Amino acid sequence: MISDMLFYHFGYGDYGPARAGKRLRPQLVMRVATSEGASLESALDAAVAVELLHNYSLVHDDIEDRDELRRGRRTLWSVYGIAQAINAGDAMCAVTFLALLHARKYHPSERVVAMVERLHEAQRVMCDGQSLDLEFESARFVDLERYDRMIAAKTAALFEASCVLGAHCAQLGDEAIRTYGAVGRAYGMAFQIRDDVLGIWGSADATGKVRGNDLVRRKWSFPVAWALSQPPSAAREVVEQTYALGRPLEHAEVSRVMDALETLGAREAAVRAAAEPMAAVERHANGELRAFLLETLREAV
Ligand code: IPE
Ligand code: IPE
Ligand code: MG
Ligand code: MG
Repeated sequence: MISDMLFYHFGYGDYGPARAGKRLRPQLVMRVATSEGASLESALDAAVAVELLHNYSLVHDDIEDRDELRRGRRTLWSVYGIAQAINAGDAMCAVTFLALLHARKYHPSERVVAMVERLHEAQRVMCDGQSLDLEFESARFVDLERYDRMIAAKTAALFEASCVLGAHCAQLGDEAIRTYGAVGRAYGMAFQIRDDVLGIWGSADATGKVRGNDLVRRKWSFPVAWALSQPPSAAREVVEQTYALGRPLEHAEVSRVMDALETLGAREAAVRAAAEPMAAVERHANGELRAFLLETLREAV
């Protein structure tokens, strides 16, 4: 049953208590809205919607990435099978938009339609990003510009939409909505670069995911895209040749790539690269939001 799978995914009822997600996107909706004077209640439907959309994307993403662990538990597809997990993800996506329509209780229809449109658009862009991410698995070379385009679509678009929905809930005008969107987008870029670093060097305990899986699948995460854009060297050669193998990498190959990335300084390069979009966040006038966003990226990698 669908509801059973959704309970499993979130770790509720008989499946809990389980480690929860960080709930970053709904916090953005609520923080933007309440700091601009809206009531928390008027932002809740939009907050629920972005978190549901995010979780639907995770259910499908884990199928696409063949990841068997998320938030320290077996992924939905690895327990119920791929076909059931696709369907459960689709249902979660439907519930996303039904949840958002509940916002009619607090907002005029035109605003709700604007929010629905914005969230649907983010979903469309996210699918584009996921498609690029998968296409890159078999690419010979991906430059940093294409990497940026991919993460802007797969990750930053939903963070942007979360801030935009928060701004809508506070009835803000076009210019303020645009500015909040830009902050969410910049944060999303930094967030994904950091997620890439954690995927390679973070412990399974910290991330709740299998360490090194991005390398097994030859994903073009930031450290890899950056390493291969560097001048020729022995370490760069290791990364390039291993990625050119045309099949999932074995344990020893993953370790070799990890060492080569470390030698090249790819981890530090990622930290520097994440700091760039964060500068845009630091310039934003909303001090409360700024402090929250900076804090979420502060924990050690
Ligand atoms: C994971 O997002 C997917 C990415 C866009 C990197 P989160 O790290 O926000 O996932 P949860 O919800 O906290 O588990
Ligand atoms: C997540 O990308 C992006 C979406 C789910 C849309 P990743 O595949 O990099 O995220 P994790 O590391 O599995 O959470
Ligand atoms: Mg993934
Ligand atoms: Mg993925």
